[in-house]
Amino acid sequence: MTQMCKELHRPQFHFSPEEKWMNDPNGMVFFNDEYHLFYQYHPFGTTWGPMHWGHAVSKDMIQWEHLPIALYPDELGAIFSGSAVVDWNNTTGFFEKDKPGLVAIYTSAGTYPDSDRPLQQQSLAYSKDNGRTWVKYEGNPVLSDVNITDYRDPKVFWHEETNKWVMVLATGQTITIYTSLNLKEWEFASEFGHTAGSHDGVWECPDLFKLPVDDGQEKWVMIVSIGDNGQSAEGSRTQYFIGEFDGSTFVNDHDDSTILWLDYGRDNYAGVSWSDIQDGRRIYLGWMSNWRYANQVPTETWRSAMTLPRELSLSSTENGIRLFQKPVEEVRTIRKEMKKYGVESGTIPLASSLMEITIELEKETSKQFGIVLKHSEEERTVIGYDAVEEKIFVDRTKSGDNRFSTSFPAIQEAPLKLNRQRLKLQVFLDTSSIEVFANDGEIAITSLIFPSEDAKELSIFSNEGTTKVLDVTLTQLDSIWE
Ligand code: FRU
Repeated sequence: MTQMCKELHRPQFHFSPEEKWMNDPNGMVFFNDEYHLFYQYHPFGTTWGPMHWGHAVSKDMIQWEHLPIALYPDELGAIFSGSAVVDWNNTTGFFEKDKPGLVAIYTSAGTYPDSDRPLQQQSLAYSKDNGRTWVKYEGNPVLSDVNITDYRDPKVFWHEETNKWVMVLATGQTITIYTSLNLKEWEFASEFGHTAGSHDGVWECPDLFKLPVDDGQEKWVMIVSIGDNGQSAEGSRTQYFIGEFDGSTFVNDHDDSTILWLDYGRDNYAGVSWSDIQDGRRIYLGWMSNWRYANQVPTETWRSAMTLPRELSLSSTENGIRLFQKPVEEVRTIRKEMKKYGVESGTIPLASSLMEITIELEKETSKQFGIVLKHSEEERTVIGYDAVEEKIFVDRTKSGDNRFSTSFPAIQEAPLKLNRQRLKLQVFLDTSSIEVFANDGEIAITSLIFPSEDAKELSIFSNEGTTKVLDVTLTQLDSIWE
């Protein structure tokens, strides 16, 4: 453990596999006081390969216990992304009376007999021992459609109102919705999205859930990740839709032309939410990378990390209802010393490179203002606000190692209006990532960075005019490896 925490670029408070390649979070479910995190895993290499489900559990989504691989490839193929649920009422018949267990619903990614043509089908596995061991269902696959090539990433939930299981499945350029009484037999319900939102790449990793809105309504949120098409500057990224769902059809509240991005940084992909959390929270986790360069990032013994777990909510803004996100309150468990700084302080030395920075700035006459994090003499990351264009940005063009991909250096921008002339930032700085939440989570910008040294110093800048500093609070964070 202690060795791992010393590797160059090893995340200190974000989940990363002990070794080898990881991509999407899978099978996220809360059961018997444990948060399960499964993930796309290639145990034999540090690049993408035949997929297994890696596994870890946690009491708080911050400290993780790494467990053995949960699902191995079989005669139906590799184990692609999917979800897990608690079968509380034994609808599957897999469990004994009063002893509910876990069911994983995943994509078996194989090929047609005697050819290389991909064949993606949905399969089940179940566990009677809190996810420690799994049995694959003998009736696999449970859902196939030979006419659709990209047919994957089932996310399943129990729909109270209709007493049915609902599956959202990525089907090329749409999301197809199926329903079931027992997770084994699935019926087509509807298809969403032919012309809605962004179609820049293949649709992947959907999620669908209900959330209260701050005005007392309830709305459904559909999350859809969009693969890298090799052309757009952004690579792979994630959009969402807000609308209504009646158990079979999702109706988008917006025009087809409206695109809502879940995150404006380059490194938050394939994220979905935990199932069966009992306290009412909807908690999301994404893969903190981008298909454009995920296989090339400069780490040695492992590749990739997850974002911080984030609580989702819906709030009304002047543009309409939007999805807000903030790190789960359990991050308090890694907070150490906290220090507030006075308005006069221009440059603040950092006592640690693991930091939570909260800052509130008020625009006076300045055209551009924000903070600079200095990693070394040559390396710095800038988080700024452009008051002319009304945009927040994270500039990683000089943050550190950039050489592995020409797509990596980037200024990541998001449209954002100031709130009474004020910009409020909550920033989480780890050894190789920065997550920025602006104005109480209205905007998230998640970005990898690969500085050669620990962050040393924070300074506040104000270009072409003045900015008032209302609050600067720095909190040191603990490593989860010790
Ligand atoms: C998304 C994805 C999924 C697929 C998995 C394969 O990142 O492409 O659609 O199931 O990764 O590892």
